Amino acid sequence: MPIRSILAGVGGYLPKRVLTNDELARSVETSDEWIRERTGICQRHIAAPHETAAFMGTAAARAALADAEAATDEVDAIILATSTPDQAFPATALRVQAALGVTHGFGFDVAAACAGFIYALAIADGMIRTGQARGALVIGSEVYSRILNWQDRGTCVLFGDGAGAVFLRAGHGSGRFDRGVLSTHLHSQGTLGDILYVDGAVGQREKSGHLVMNGREVFRHAVVRLAEVVDEALAANSLGRHEIDWLVPHQANLRIIDAMGRKLGLPAERVVITVDRHANTSAASVPLALAEARGDGRIRPGDLVLLEALGGGLAWGAALVRM
Ligand code: COA
Repeated sequence: MPIRSILAGVGGYLPKRVLTNDELARSVETSDEWIRERTGICQRHIAAPHETAAFMGTAAARAALADAEAATDEVDAIILATSTPDQAFPATALRVQAALGVTHGFGFDVAAACAGFIYALAIADGMIRTGQARGALVIGSEVYSRILNWQDRGTCVLFGDGAGAVFLRAGHGSGRFDRGVLSTHLHSQGTLGDILYVDGAVGQREKSGHLVMNGREVFRHAVVRLAEVVDEALAANSLGRHEIDWLVPHQANLRIIDAMGRKLGLPAERVVITVDRHANTSAASVPLALAEARGDGRIRPGDLVLLEALGGGLAWGAALVRM
């Protein structure tokens, strides 16, 4: 039987500090009502100085390894998605490798903004299928609080910090009923780079930059592109919408999530939502949501889960996983 990546463990980490909409409304002209109505967000977690992408990614990775009952010597690859790395280099993945005490294999970072986790999952899955790794940590870890312009009410209300991770283990399977990653689907369109970006980086000038977004345009593209990639994932596996047990979407905006749920004909209780409490944690949002729904027993072994995300680039993608 062909090699397949089994999703053996999931974990998450959220900073202790919670920032509510009401608190935000004291420093920028907004209101709890406006933020809830337009986005579904009620609060977000904000990292303390020591809670960097590496620190949070390590905590999430430890939780995923514990969930998988995996020892660190099973970790051949660490692929970490982030737009807010601790340093230009070494890769944040390698800071995590050191913190975990992993002394073999390899690691690197992936930059695909909010789609980063899906991209990293696709890469790890490919490496496992081709025998380059037998165990892989796939991590999304972000501290957007450090790239937000806290005076810009159009963006600062939307994001939060956190990390999520999965541990993939090589197994065997074929067809849509066997466990593991069934397929991944990646897309990007660089011509849309200017509707969501960070206006600086270490390679450009001294300024590290702030997130800039044309919210309406991103919203418009998100609904269309995500619907397309969901159809693509279903068609690639000859699956009907009704065969999906859970949608675990990127958590950017409740209205976008609801549109995807309706498209799949899924009842609201089959769509995992964390955006109300986490806001948009970019590459961390999908694994954090997965960790929550696995942890509380909603998602069970054998369930078919559809993951999707879109973000700056534009970059977007989807993955189908039999748990
Ligand atoms: N509080 C109060 N008012 C706000 C506000 C805030 N936090 N942010 C913007 N506004 C105001 C605007 O200034 C505008 O006022 P005006 O009409 O006087 O100019 C009004 O609200 C409407 O702004 P608009 O940007 O058209 O609102 P919207 O309905 O498009 O909602 C978003 C804004 C950002 C919530 C929405 O566009 C969105 O969610 N887009 C997708 C964002 C996303 O998912 N990004 C991440 C992808 S990874």
